[in-house]
Amino acid sequence: MKIEPATSVQGDIAVPGDKSISHRALLLGAIADGESEIEGFGASEDTLSTAAAMRVLGAGVEVEGDLVRVDGVGLRGLRAPAEPVDCGNAGTLIRLLPGILAGQEGRFELVGDASLSSRPMKRIAEPLRAMGARVETTDGHAPLAIEGGELHALRWELPVASAQVKSCILLAGLYAESGRTTAVEPHPSRDHTERMLEAMGARVRRAPREASVWAAERLAPLRLTVPGDASSAAPFVLAATLLPGSRLRLHGVGLNPTRTGFLDVLERMGARIAVFNRRSAGGEPVGDLEVESAELTATRIGAEEVPALVDELPLFALAAGMAHGTSVVTGAAELRVKESDRIEGVKDALRPLGVHIEALPDGFRIRGVPARPRGGSAVDARGDHRIAMLGAVAGLVSREDVELRGAETVAVSFPDFFAMLDSLAFR
Ligand code: S3P
Repeated sequence: MKIEPATSVQGDIAVPGDKSISHRALLLGAIADGESEIEGFGASEDTLSTAAAMRVLGAGVEVEGDLVRVDGVGLRGLRAPAEPVDCGNAGTLIRLLPGILAGQEGRFELVGDASLSSRPMKRIAEPLRAMGARVETTDGHAPLAIEGGELHALRWELPVASAQVKSCILLAGLYAESGRTTAVEPHPSRDHTERMLEAMGARVRRAPREASVWAAERLAPLRLTVPGDASSAAPFVLAATLLPGSRLRLHGVGLNPTRTGFLDVLERMGARIAVFNRRSAGGEPVGDLEVESAELTATRIGAEEVPALVDELPLFALAAGMAHGTSVVTGAAELRVKESDRIEGVKDALRPLGVHIEALPDGFRIRGVPARPRGGSAVDARGDHRIAMLGAVAGLVSREDVELRGAETVAVSFPDFFAMLDSLAFR
Protein backbone atom coordinates (compact mmCIF):
# COMPACT_ATOMS: atom_id res chain seq x y z
CA MET A 1 0.00 0.00 0.00
CA LYS A 2 1.29 3.45 -0.91
CA ILE A 3 1.08 6.08 1.86
CA GLU A 4 1.15 9.61 0.48
CA PRO A 5 2.37 12.62 2.46
CA ALA A 6 -0.30 14.77 4.12
CA THR A 7 -0.25 18.50 4.79
CA SER A 8 -2.20 18.16 8.06
CA VAL A 9 -4.74 16.03 9.90
CA GLN A 10 -8.06 17.55 10.93
CA GLY A 11 -11.25 16.26 12.46
CA ASP A 12 -13.02 14.41 15.23
CA ILE A 13 -12.64 10.69 15.88
CA ALA A 14 -13.39 7.99 18.43
CA VAL A 15 -11.02 5.03 18.29
CA PRO A 16 -12.30 1.49 19.04
CA GLY A 17 -12.50 0.06 22.55
CA ASP A 18 -9.33 -0.81 24.41
CA LYS A 19 -7.84 -4.15 23.36
CA SER A 20 -6.40 -5.06 26.77
CA ILE A 21 -9.73 -4.37 28.49
CA SER A 22 -11.77 -6.11 25.77
CA HIS A 23 -9.69 -9.32 26.14
CA ARG A 24 -10.09 -9.21 29.92
CA ALA A 25 -13.84 -8.59 29.75
CA LEU A 26 -14.26 -11.77 27.67
CA LEU A 27 -11.93 -13.87 29.83
CA LEU A 28 -13.47 -12.75 33.12
CA GLY A 29 -17.04 -12.58 31.81
CA ALA A 30 -16.70 -16.25 30.83
CA ILE A 31 -16.02 -17.29 34.44
CA ALA A 32 -18.56 -14.94 36.04
CA ASP A 33 -21.87 -16.20 37.43
CA GLY A 34 -24.43 -15.00 34.88
CA GLU A 35 -24.57 -12.69 31.89
CA SER A 36 -22.08 -9.87 31.33
CA GLU A 37 -22.79 -6.95 29.00
CA ILE A 38 -19.89 -5.14 27.42
CA GLU A 39 -20.39 -1.96 25.41
CA GLY A 40 -17.71 -0.31 23.32
CA PHE A 41 -15.96 -3.66 22.77
CA GLY A 42 -12.93 -3.29 20.50
CA ALA A 43 -13.54 -5.98 17.86
CA SER A 44 -10.30 -6.96 16.13
CA GLU A 45 -8.58 -10.18 15.06
CA ASP A 46 -6.97 -10.43 18.50
CA THR A 47 -10.08 -9.93 20.61
CA LEU A 48 -12.13 -12.15 18.28
CA SER A 49 -9.56 -14.89 18.95
CA THR A 50 -10.44 -14.52 22.63
CA ALA A 51 -14.19 -14.57 21.88
CA ALA A 52 -13.75 -17.80 19.87
CA ALA A 53 -11.54 -19.35 22.56
CA MET A 54 -14.07 -18.69 25.33
CA ARG A 55 -16.85 -20.19 23.17
CA VAL A 56 -14.78 -23.33 22.54
CA LEU A 57 -14.27 -23.59 26.32
CA GLY A 58 -18.02 -23.53 26.92
CA ALA A 59 -19.01 -19.90 27.61
CA GLY A 60 -21.70 -18.23 25.51
CA VAL A 61 -20.27 -15.23 23.63
CA GLU A 62 -22.32 -13.06 21.25
CA VAL A 63 -20.60 -10.20 19.44
CA GLU A 64 -22.79 -7.63 17.66
CA GLY A 65 -20.61 -4.77 16.51
CA ASP A 66 -19.26 -3.20 19.67
CA LEU A 67 -21.82 -4.85 21.95
CA VAL A 68 -20.89 -8.17 23.52
CA ARG A 69 -22.87 -10.53 25.73
CA VAL A 70 -21.03 -13.21 27.64
CA ASP A 71 -22.90 -16.03 29.33
CA GLY A 72 -20.54 -16.94 32.15
CA VAL A 73 -20.14 -20.54 33.33
CA GLY A 74 -18.81 -19.74 36.80
CA LEU A 75 -15.27 -19.85 38.14
CA ARG A 76 -14.76 -23.58 37.57
CA GLY A 77 -17.17 -24.21 34.72
CA LEU A 78 -14.90 -24.21 31.63
CA ARG A 79 -14.60 -27.52 29.78
CA ALA A 80 -11.61 -28.98 27.93
CA PRO A 81 -12.41 -29.16 24.20
CA ALA A 82 -11.19 -32.05 22.04
CA GLU A 83 -9.17 -29.67 19.84
CA PRO A 84 -6.44 -27.27 20.99
CA VAL A 85 -7.58 -23.71 21.69
CA ASP A 86 -6.30 -21.42 18.90
CA CYS A 87 -4.92 -18.16 20.31
CA GLY A 88 -4.02 -16.74 16.86
CA ASN A 89 -1.64 -13.80 17.29
CA ALA A 90 -2.97 -12.78 20.73
CA GLY A 91 -0.29 -12.57 23.42
CA THR A 92 -2.77 -11.36 26.03
CA LEU A 93 -4.98 -14.40 25.42
CA ILE A 94 -2.24 -17.02 25.56
CA ARG A 95 -0.67 -15.49 28.68
CA LEU A 96 -3.83 -14.76 30.69
CA LEU A 97 -5.96 -17.81 29.87
CA PRO A 98 -3.56 -20.34 31.49
CA GLY A 99 -4.10 -18.58 34.83
CA ILE A 100 -7.81 -19.43 34.55
CA LEU A 101 -7.25 -22.91 33.11
CA ALA A 102 -4.98 -23.80 36.04
CA GLY A 103 -8.17 -23.70 38.16
CA GLN A 104 -10.28 -25.94 35.89
CA GLU A 105 -10.61 -29.68 35.62
CA GLY A 106 -9.03 -31.36 32.60
CA ARG A 107 -6.14 -30.87 30.22
CA PHE A 108 -6.13 -27.86 27.91
CA GLU A 109 -3.89 -27.28 24.89
CA LEU A 110 -3.18 -23.82 23.54
CA VAL A 111 -1.66 -23.06 20.13
CA GLY A 112 -0.92 -19.84 18.24
CA ASP A 113 0.37 -18.53 14.92
CA ALA A 114 4.08 -18.48 14.01
CA SER A 115 4.72 -15.09 15.68
CA LEU A 116 2.94 -16.09 18.90
CA SER A 117 4.75 -19.44 18.92
CA SER A 118 8.09 -17.64 18.95
CA ARG A 119 7.27 -15.58 22.08
CA PRO A 120 8.52 -16.57 25.55
CA MET A 121 6.08 -18.54 27.73
CA LYS A 122 8.38 -19.72 30.52
CA ARG A 123 7.49 -16.49 32.31
CA ILE A 124 3.94 -17.78 32.92
CA ALA A 125 4.76 -21.50 33.12
CA GLU A 126 7.12 -21.04 36.07
CA PRO A 127 4.78 -19.23 38.48
CA LEU A 128 1.85 -21.49 37.55
CA ARG A 129 3.98 -24.57 38.26
CA ALA A 130 5.09 -23.03 41.54
CA MET A 131 1.39 -22.71 42.43
CA GLY A 132 0.80 -26.41 41.70
CA ALA A 133 -0.46 -26.49 38.11
CA ARG A 134 1.04 -28.79 35.47
CA VAL A 135 2.21 -26.71 32.54
CA GLU A 136 4.06 -28.05 29.51
CA THR A 137 5.67 -25.71 27.02
CA THR A 138 7.42 -26.46 23.73
CA ASP A 139 10.96 -25.39 24.59
CA GLY A 140 9.61 -22.46 26.55
CA HIS A 141 7.11 -21.54 23.82
CA ALA A 142 3.60 -22.42 22.57
CA PRO A 143 2.06 -24.95 22.02
CA LEU A 144 1.24 -25.16 25.73
CA ALA A 145 -0.63 -27.76 27.77
CA ILE A 146 -2.18 -26.89 31.13
CA GLU A 147 -3.62 -29.26 33.67
CA GLY A 148 -5.22 -27.76 36.72
CA GLY A 149 -4.66 -29.06 40.18
CA GLU A 150 -4.97 -27.91 43.72
CA LEU A 151 -3.38 -24.48 43.62
CA HIS A 152 -1.62 -22.77 46.48
CA ALA A 153 -1.04 -19.08 46.94
CA LEU A 154 2.38 -17.56 46.40
CA ARG A 155 4.32 -14.33 46.19
CA TRP A 156 6.11 -14.06 42.84
CA GLU A 157 8.70 -11.46 41.84
CA LEU A 158 8.67 -10.69 38.12
CA PRO A 159 12.14 -9.92 36.74
CA VAL A 160 10.59 -7.60 34.11
CA ALA A 161 7.36 -5.60 34.43
CA SER A 162 4.61 -7.39 32.50
CA ALA A 163 0.88 -6.93 32.88
CA GLN A 164 0.32 -10.22 31.08
CA VAL A 165 2.42 -12.22 33.53
CA LYS A 166 1.05 -10.34 36.55
CA SER A 167 -2.52 -10.95 35.35
CA CYS A 168 -1.88 -14.67 34.78
CA ILE A 169 -0.67 -15.04 38.37
CA LEU A 170 -3.59 -13.05 39.80
CA LEU A 171 -6.13 -15.09 37.83
CA ALA A 172 -4.64 -18.33 39.14
CA GLY A 173 -4.74 -16.74 42.61
CA LEU A 174 -8.55 -16.72 42.39
CA TYR A 175 -8.31 -20.53 42.72
CA ALA A 176 -5.53 -20.74 45.33
CA GLU A 177 -7.00 -21.96 48.60
CA SER A 178 -4.18 -21.09 50.96
CA GLY A 179 -4.40 -17.31 51.19
CA ARG A 180 -2.99 -14.35 49.37
CA THR A 181 -1.36 -14.52 45.92
CA THR A 182 0.89 -11.58 45.09
CA ALA A 183 2.69 -10.47 41.93
CA VAL A 184 5.56 -8.04 42.51
CA GLU A 185 6.94 -5.96 39.63
CA PRO A 186 10.08 -3.85 39.25
CA HIS A 187 7.88 -1.07 37.81
CA PRO A 188 4.07 -0.85 37.70
CA SER A 189 2.39 -2.18 34.54
CA ARG A 190 -1.19 -1.70 33.34
CA ASP A 191 -3.72 -2.57 36.03
CA HIS A 192 -6.89 -3.39 34.08
CA THR A 193 -7.11 -6.90 35.56
CA GLU A 194 -6.99 -5.59 39.12
CA ARG A 195 -9.66 -2.97 38.39
CA MET A 196 -11.96 -5.48 36.70
CA LEU A 197 -11.58 -8.10 39.42
CA GLU A 198 -12.44 -5.48 42.05
CA ALA A 199 -15.54 -4.48 40.05
CA MET A 200 -16.59 -8.15 39.97
CA GLY A 201 -16.36 -8.47 43.74
CA ALA A 202 -13.02 -10.26 44.15
CA ARG A 203 -10.81 -9.32 47.08
CA VAL A 204 -7.86 -7.39 45.66
CA ARG A 205 -5.17 -5.45 47.46
CA ARG A 206 -2.78 -3.08 45.73
CA ALA A 207 0.48 -1.37 46.53
CA PRO A 208 2.60 0.69 44.09
CA ARG A 209 4.62 -2.24 42.71
CA GLU A 210 2.48 -5.19 43.72
CA ALA A 211 -1.01 -6.60 43.47
CA SER A 212 -2.63 -9.38 45.51
CA VAL A 213 -5.80 -11.46 45.29
CA TRP A 214 -7.48 -14.04 47.50
CA ALA A 215 -9.46 -17.07 46.40
CA ALA A 216 -12.93 -16.16 45.16
CA GLU A 217 -16.17 -18.09 45.47
CA ARG A 218 -17.82 -16.32 42.58
CA LEU A 219 -17.39 -13.35 40.28
CA ALA A 220 -20.30 -11.01 39.63
CA PRO A 221 -21.07 -10.42 35.94
CA LEU A 222 -19.75 -7.26 34.28
CA ARG A 223 -21.65 -4.16 33.15
CA LEU A 224 -18.90 -2.40 31.33
CA THR A 225 -18.31 0.37 28.80
CA VAL A 226 -14.85 -0.07 27.37
CA PRO A 227 -12.89 3.18 26.93
CA GLY A 228 -11.20 4.02 23.62
CA ASP A 229 -7.80 2.37 23.22
CA ALA A 230 -4.95 4.74 24.13
CA SER A 231 -2.62 2.64 21.95
CA SER A 232 -4.92 2.99 18.93
CA ALA A 233 -5.22 6.74 19.58
CA ALA A 234 -1.43 7.14 19.66
CA PRO A 235 -0.74 7.10 15.87
CA PHE A 236 -3.33 9.87 15.36
CA VAL A 237 -1.98 11.92 18.26
CA LEU A 238 1.47 11.64 16.72
CA ALA A 239 0.35 12.59 13.20
CA ALA A 240 -1.45 15.69 14.55
CA THR A 241 1.61 16.65 16.58
CA LEU A 242 4.05 16.29 13.68
CA LEU A 243 2.02 17.85 10.83
CA PRO A 244 1.90 21.67 11.07
CA GLY A 245 -1.57 23.21 11.14
CA SER A 246 -3.21 20.03 12.43
CA ARG A 247 -6.07 20.00 14.91
CA LEU A 248 -7.59 16.74 16.03
CA ARG A 249 -10.16 15.78 18.64
CA LEU A 250 -10.24 12.25 20.00
CA HIS A 251 -13.33 11.34 22.01
CA GLY A 252 -13.52 8.87 24.89
CA VAL A 253 -9.87 7.85 25.12
CA GLY A 254 -8.81 5.68 28.05
CA LEU A 255 -6.56 7.69 30.38
CA ASN A 256 -5.55 5.05 32.90
CA PRO A 257 -2.22 6.41 34.21
CA THR A 258 -0.55 3.05 33.54
CA ARG A 259 -1.32 3.63 29.83
CA THR A 260 -0.74 7.35 29.25
CA GLY A 261 3.06 7.19 28.99
CA PHE A 262 3.04 8.22 25.32
CA LEU A 263 0.96 11.33 26.01
CA ASP A 264 3.12 12.19 29.03
CA VAL A 265 6.35 11.81 27.07
CA LEU A 266 5.06 13.81 24.09
CA GLU A 267 3.95 16.61 26.41
CA ARG A 268 7.39 16.62 28.00
CA MET A 269 8.81 17.03 24.49
CA GLY A 270 6.58 20.06 23.87
CA ALA A 271 3.43 18.56 22.33
CA ARG A 272 0.14 20.43 22.67
CA ILE A 273 -2.37 17.95 24.01
CA ALA A 274 -5.36 19.21 26.00
CA VAL A 275 -7.61 16.86 27.96
CA PHE A 276 -11.32 17.68 28.37
CA ASN A 277 -14.31 16.02 30.00
CA ARG A 278 -12.40 13.78 32.34
CA ARG A 279 -14.78 11.09 33.51
CA SER A 280 -14.85 7.47 34.47
CA ALA A 281 -16.18 4.51 32.45
CA GLY A 282 -16.16 0.91 33.58
CA GLY A 283 -13.85 1.71 36.49
CA GLU A 284 -11.32 3.37 34.18
CA PRO A 285 -10.50 7.08 33.69
CA VAL A 286 -11.51 8.47 30.29
CA GLY A 287 -11.33 11.85 28.57
CA ASP A 288 -11.44 13.69 25.24
CA LEU A 289 -8.18 14.90 23.73
CA GLU A 290 -7.47 17.88 21.54
CA VAL A 291 -4.13 17.80 19.79
CA GLU A 292 -2.47 20.59 17.85
CA SER A 293 0.84 20.47 16.05
CA ALA A 294 4.00 21.44 17.92
CA GLU A 295 7.77 21.40 17.69
CA LEU A 296 9.35 18.69 19.80
CA THR A 297 12.51 18.51 21.89
CA ALA A 298 14.45 15.30 22.61
CA THR A 299 13.96 13.30 25.80
CA ARG A 300 15.16 10.16 27.57
CA ILE A 301 13.05 7.16 28.52
CA GLY A 302 14.24 4.60 31.07
CA ALA A 303 12.99 1.24 32.37
CA GLU A 304 10.65 2.80 34.97
CA GLU A 305 8.67 4.62 32.29
CA VAL A 306 8.65 1.85 29.66
CA PRO A 307 5.57 -0.13 30.82
CA ALA A 308 3.29 2.91 30.42
CA LEU A 309 4.13 3.23 26.71
CA VAL A 310 5.55 -0.16 25.82
CA ASP A 311 3.37 -0.53 22.70
CA GLU A 312 3.90 3.11 21.66
CA LEU A 313 7.73 3.08 21.67
CA PRO A 314 7.86 2.51 17.88
CA LEU A 315 5.84 5.73 17.45
CA PHE A 316 8.04 7.50 19.97
CA ALA A 317 11.04 6.70 17.76
CA LEU A 318 9.46 8.63 14.88
CA ALA A 319 8.62 11.57 17.19
CA ALA A 320 12.24 11.60 18.41
CA GLY A 321 13.46 11.46 14.80
CA MET A 322 11.74 14.81 14.12
CA ALA A 323 12.64 16.47 17.47
CA HIS A 324 15.47 18.89 18.33
CA GLY A 325 18.33 16.94 19.94
CA THR A 326 19.21 13.33 20.70
CA SER A 327 16.71 11.01 22.40
CA VAL A 328 17.56 7.71 24.10
CA VAL A 329 15.34 4.79 25.14
CA THR A 330 16.83 2.17 27.48
CA GLY A 331 15.36 -0.59 29.62
CA ALA A 332 13.08 -1.69 26.79
CA ALA A 333 14.57 -5.10 25.86
CA GLU A 334 10.98 -6.45 25.99
CA LEU A 335 10.50 -4.85 22.56
CA ARG A 336 12.58 -7.69 21.14
CA VAL A 337 9.96 -10.28 22.15
CA LYS A 338 6.73 -8.54 21.10
CA GLU A 339 4.78 -9.54 17.95
CA SER A 340 8.12 -8.99 16.19
CA ASP A 341 11.55 -7.71 17.27
CA ARG A 342 10.43 -4.10 17.47
CA ILE A 343 13.91 -2.71 18.04
CA GLU A 344 15.19 -4.04 14.71
CA GLY A 345 11.82 -3.49 13.00
CA VAL A 346 11.69 0.20 13.97
CA LYS A 347 15.31 0.79 12.97
CA ASP A 348 14.78 -0.94 9.61
CA ALA A 349 11.57 1.04 9.01
CA LEU A 350 12.90 4.50 9.91
CA ARG A 351 16.51 4.50 8.73
CA PRO A 352 15.75 4.28 5.00
CA LEU A 353 13.37 7.26 5.45
CA GLY A 354 16.31 9.34 6.62
CA VAL A 355 15.85 9.07 10.41
CA HIS A 356 19.14 8.84 12.35
CA ILE A 357 18.33 5.89 14.56
CA GLU A 358 20.66 3.40 16.14
CA ALA A 359 19.45 0.16 17.75
CA LEU A 360 20.66 -0.56 21.30
CA PRO A 361 20.34 -3.97 22.97
CA ASP A 362 17.48 -2.58 25.08
CA GLY A 363 16.24 0.43 23.13
CA PHE A 364 17.26 3.12 20.62
CA ARG A 365 19.38 6.23 20.24
CA ILE A 366 17.88 8.77 17.84
CA ARG A 367 19.43 12.01 16.61
CA GLY A 368 16.49 14.19 15.69
CA VAL A 369 16.23 16.51 12.70
CA PRO A 370 13.29 18.90 13.08
CA ALA A 371 12.07 18.54 9.49
CA ARG A 372 10.10 16.03 7.46
CA PRO A 373 12.04 12.82 6.80
CA ARG A 374 12.76 12.31 3.12
CA GLY A 375 10.63 9.16 2.69
CA GLY A 376 10.58 7.49 -0.71
CA SER A 377 11.37 4.13 0.92
CA ALA A 378 9.51 0.99 1.94
CA VAL A 379 8.40 -0.13 5.42
CA ASP A 380 7.88 -3.85 6.00
CA ALA A 381 5.39 -4.48 8.82
CA ARG A 382 6.76 -8.02 9.32
CA GLY A 383 3.37 -9.20 10.49
CA ASP A 384 3.36 -6.67 13.35
CA HIS A 385 0.37 -4.30 13.61
CA ARG A 386 2.29 -1.66 15.56
CA ILE A 387 5.04 -1.50 12.90
CA ALA A 388 2.37 -1.18 10.19
CA MET A 389 0.85 1.81 12.03
CA LEU A 390 4.31 3.35 12.43
CA GLY A 391 4.83 2.98 8.66
CA ALA A 392 1.49 4.68 7.99
CA VAL A 393 2.30 7.73 10.14
CA ALA A 394 5.83 7.83 8.72
CA GLY A 395 4.31 8.01 5.23
CA LEU A 396 2.03 10.91 6.20
CA VAL A 397 4.84 13.01 7.64
CA SER A 398 7.55 12.27 5.04
CA ARG A 399 8.30 14.37 1.97
CA GLU A 400 7.79 11.46 -0.43
CA ASP A 401 5.51 8.42 -0.54
CA VAL A 402 6.22 5.43 1.66
CA GLU A 403 5.45 1.92 0.40
CA LEU A 404 3.93 -0.01 3.31
CA ARG A 405 4.21 -3.79 2.98
CA GLY A 406 1.93 -6.00 5.04
CA ALA A 407 -0.46 -3.13 5.86
CA GLU A 408 -3.34 -5.60 6.42
CA THR A 409 -1.80 -6.66 9.75
CA VAL A 410 -3.37 -3.56 11.40
CA ALA A 411 -6.52 -5.72 11.67
CA VAL A 412 -4.88 -7.51 14.63
CA SER A 413 -5.84 -4.53 16.80
CA PHE A 414 -7.63 -1.95 14.62
CA PRO A 415 -9.38 -3.15 11.43
CA ASP A 416 -10.61 0.35 10.39
CA PHE A 417 -7.29 2.08 10.96
CA PHE A 418 -6.69 3.13 7.34
CA ALA A 419 -10.27 4.29 6.79
CA MET A 420 -9.98 6.53 9.84
CA LEU A 421 -6.58 7.81 8.76
CA ASP A 422 -7.90 8.64 5.27
CA SER A 423 -10.86 10.52 6.70
CA LEU A 424 -8.50 12.87 8.60
CA ALA A 425 -5.57 13.39 6.28
CA PHE A 426 -5.49 16.51 4.10
CA ARG A 427 -3.22 16.12 1.08
C1 S3P B 1 -0.75 -6.20 27.46
C2 S3P B 1 0.44 -6.00 28.11
C3 S3P B 1 1.69 -5.64 27.42
C4 S3P B 1 1.44 -5.12 26.01
C5 S3P B 1 0.45 -5.97 25.26
C6 S3P B 1 -0.88 -6.02 26.01
C7 S3P B 1 -1.92 -6.61 28.24
O1 S3P B 1 2.52 -6.77 27.36
O2 S3P B 1 2.65 -5.06 25.29
O3 S3P B 1 0.24 -5.44 23.98
O4 S3P B 1 -3.06 -6.60 27.71
O5 S3P B 1 -1.74 -6.96 29.41
P1 S3P B 1 3.46 -7.18 28.62
O6 S3P B 1 2.56 -7.22 29.79
O7 S3P B 1 4.00 -8.55 28.34
O8 S3P B 1 4.53 -6.14 28.67
